[in-house]
Amino acid sequence: MQISRRNFFRSTLSASAAAGIAVSGLPFSEEAFGEPRRWFLDPALNAFQATDAKGIIWLNSNENSYGPWPSMMPVMREALNYGHRYPRTEYQQLIATIANLHRVKDSQVSLGCGSSEILRVCAEIFTGPGKTLVQASPTFESLGQYSKTRGATVRSVALNSKYEHDLQNMLPQGGEKVGLVYICNPNNPTASISPRKDLEAYIKQLPEDTFVLIDEAYHHFAKSPDYVSFLDQPVNDPRIIVARTFSKVYGLAGMRLGYAVAVEETARKLRAYASFDNVNMVSARVGDAALHDDAGLAAAIKRTADDRDAFLAEVKKRNIACIPTQANFAMIETGKPIRRSIDYFKTKNIIIGRPFPPLTTHARITIGKPEEMKAFWTAWDERKA
Ligand SMILES: Cc1ncc(COP(=O)(O)O)c(C=O)c1O
Repeated sequence: MQISRRNFFRSTLSASAAAGIAVSGLPFSEEAFGEPRRWFLDPALNAFQATDAKGIIWLNSNENSYGPWPSMMPVMREALNYGHRYPRTEYQQLIATIANLHRVKDSQVSLGCGSSEILRVCAEIFTGPGKTLVQASPTFESLGQYSKTRGATVRSVALNSKYEHDLQNMLPQGGEKVGLVYICNPNNPTASISPRKDLEAYIKQLPEDTFVLIDEAYHHFAKSPDYVSFLDQPVNDPRIIVARTFSKVYGLAGMRLGYAVAVEETARKLRAYASFDNVNMVSARVGDAALHDDAGLAAAIKRTADDRDAFLAEVKKRNIACIPTQANFAMIETGKPIRRSIDYFKTKNIIIGRPFPPLTTHARITIGKPEEMKAFWTAWDERKA
């Protein structure tokens, strides 16, 4: 029987897995290998995973619960007419708009199929066997997973008592060769920020060949004067890559669109490792339209700020400990093992955030629409001790 390349790979992989043999020099464990897709979804939630499942309240992925902005729907509908074409000028147009927004050259922009692709590409380029990724704990896990899959060491450094990055302990230690540092700011899952001045001082202390990925997925929600974006006020440093996403304030998580800005040489590398045509026709057009809709952006930011204030008022009423939030979600103390809370809310058709060890009793709650939050608080108040 002839074996295609793909089938050969599959059978080799599964035979190796069954025998517990290292694949490509990697220790074969689920953790090292990573799960291929949505690895963070809890298998226990299977019945709930259909996006259009009726009556489910999704407070688990920090999406924009209101959906795409009104200006976006006609653009997406129109773009579907060209679904049979590869994105051509649309791709370049989006790059030009992003470059214009951030006052950089087109050649400094790299698009991603979500900012997830930017993270994956960075793991690909800057980590690998013999190299270390340094990140916070807890933080958004996917870059760590990609780096482990790549065969790198991942060193996770606990956030400090203010839930900021503990930068002193994130400097290279001993003979460690740190290829990449991940700074998620505001940080997911804690919704906390690390002050700009501290980050700048830290980056200056890093070796010349250590790159820094600053993930600003939640940029638009940060209000603290200590938070300053590395895109709004760039430092001219060739080691810095800033990632942004359309999945949060823009309400386009399902469209899978993100980007990175870096110096030309680094951006060129990112593009070289990304998939061809990684942004589809509809995403390219709607992303471009979103960046031209200043009123839509202002409205979305205000709505989230109002919803967050309302959430925090409920938190205060109940005397719940909450990590101060600079994002569209919050980490609250449940006083119970997080698994129990996840299971409990599931019985009420409410899906809350996954566990984020080492925070074993905190729940990450995405702040949804008022009616969704009303259901959340009703369920919270009905909890048994
Ligand atoms: C901090 C952070 N970075 C990146 C991502 C990935 O976002 P996307 O691939 O949808 O752009 C997420 C998703 O929740 C996130 O929280």
